[in-house]
Amino acid sequence: MLGMFILKHTYGLSDEQVWDRWVHDPYFQYFTGEEFFQHELPHERSGMSHWRNRIGETLDIPTPGSPSGLRLSAELSGNDYLDLGGHSAITEAKVAVMQGGGDDVYMSAAFLTDGTMQRAVERKMAAFLGTEDAVLCQSGWCANLGLMQAISDQETQVYVDAGVHAAIWDGARSAGAQIRPFRHNRPESLERKIRNHGVGIVVVSAVYGVDGTICPLAQIADIAERHGCEIVVDETHSIGVYGRQGQGLVSDLGLQDKITYRTFSLSKAMVTRAGMVTGPARIMDFFRFESRPAIFSSAVLPHEVAGLGAALNVIQEEDWRRERLRHNTSLLRIRLADLGFDVAVSGSQIIALVAGVEDVAIAFRDALERHHIFGTLISAPATTRNGALVRLSVNSGLVEEDLRRIAWACTCVRDEIPISRWPLTLRRGVPAIVGRDAADLPIVPDDETETDAVTEAATATPPSEEKRRAS
Ligand SMILES: Cc1ncc(COP(=O)(O)O)c(C=O)c1O
Repeated sequence: MLGMFILKHTYGLSDEQVWDRWVHDPYFQYFTGEEFFQHELPHERSGMSHWRNRIGETLDIPTPGSPSGLRLSAELSGNDYLDLGGHSAITEAKVAVMQGGGDDVYMSAAFLTDGTMQRAVERKMAAFLGTEDAVLCQSGWCANLGLMQAISDQETQVYVDAGVHAAIWDGARSAGAQIRPFRHNRPESLERKIRNHGVGIVVVSAVYGVDGTICPLAQIADIAERHGCEIVVDETHSIGVYGRQGQGLVSDLGLQDKITYRTFSLSKAMVTRAGMVTGPARIMDFFRFESRPAIFSSAVLPHEVAGLGAALNVIQEEDWRRERLRHNTSLLRIRLADLGFDVAVSGSQIIALVAGVEDVAIAFRDALERHHIFGTLISAPATTRNGALVRLSVNSGLVEEDLRRIAWACTCVRDEIPISRWPLTLRRGVPAIVGRDAADLPIVPDDETETDAVTEAATATPPSEEKRRAS
């Protein structure tokens, strides 16, 4: 019944009109929770007046901007996947350090001694991930850039998936390394490159931040091992999210022994303004005194370090957040696929709605915002020229009503900007059908043309323009 009131007020309909429309409109039915099309009203037509009388007041459905206990918008642009922002244990840990004065760390971390809180958290992270050692960096950017700059030189062949983060490219470039991009998520493309250029370092992301694609890590690790290459995996969008206690995709797949280095931003699921590099103790010691951001920039502040320590406890203990995130992700993917959007039913928490050219993506983003759904617009050079998209980052704090609302907004927007004309949807021939069984939905295969284009774009993009490759 509440759904009926929301529809009534949103569309400015009378009680009679909203009932009449409900019987004919599958989207109205979907919004109020029906899984299958109904030919009969679920309530008496007088039900709305009775409901009003029963709750004893005029129902005040909020309009945008009006204060209300009901959440009528959904924020899907942030990366706080486990909804930990403002978590009391994390906040208290930070506040305690701020009020207590903390360590004196207004200097480069290269000068920190062994007994500091930073070293304790680094050891805790290393134990959590089952690696020899870890180094806290000022950001994910510093972790990626510093590592590439520290472990490669002019002689090093660096094989990068075309979709890796900008800091990887910049770090390898600043070391003067031989950068060999391979097609996004194409192990065979990597293998061809290694055969042509020899042993080197392979760099991939576990989950790609722009479009949410997941790396075929086992195959990549296998190829690297056969050719004697080391691997760097950026776990920025998988740490906290994948793995039994949130240890990331490498641990989830049991590949710890095959992956030499892991890097990640802590400003996503870990809600801390910092980054991390993990790897063999000998190299991590080298990194502390060789990576330029580690030497020439000040250390992470103590309250952030304390917050990270607390966040690490929370992500291990509160498994229900990962469960909830998985549930929300698959439900939303299924609903969007049902509506004809080109999303696979299984995949990461980052859902990319690829609109094609930038103008269509902008119109799509604006239309979603009119329905109070806030995603992120991403376009070239972070995507190919015809691969502009709106990214929806799912989090564990979304409730059933939010997911319905998002699907409902996408339903409206789909009709405003017909997705059948969207380039990728058309090419893959996904029809816009409502109520299709999720089990029948196709897993979208990698697209040859698109990945070629990504590789070309990545190879051709000058360093100054790559800044928007970040997500
Ligand atoms: C895959 C990936 N790696 C690294 C970073 C950089 O992290 P930070 O924002 O902590 O510098 C990002 C940023 O969004 C990212 O998406």
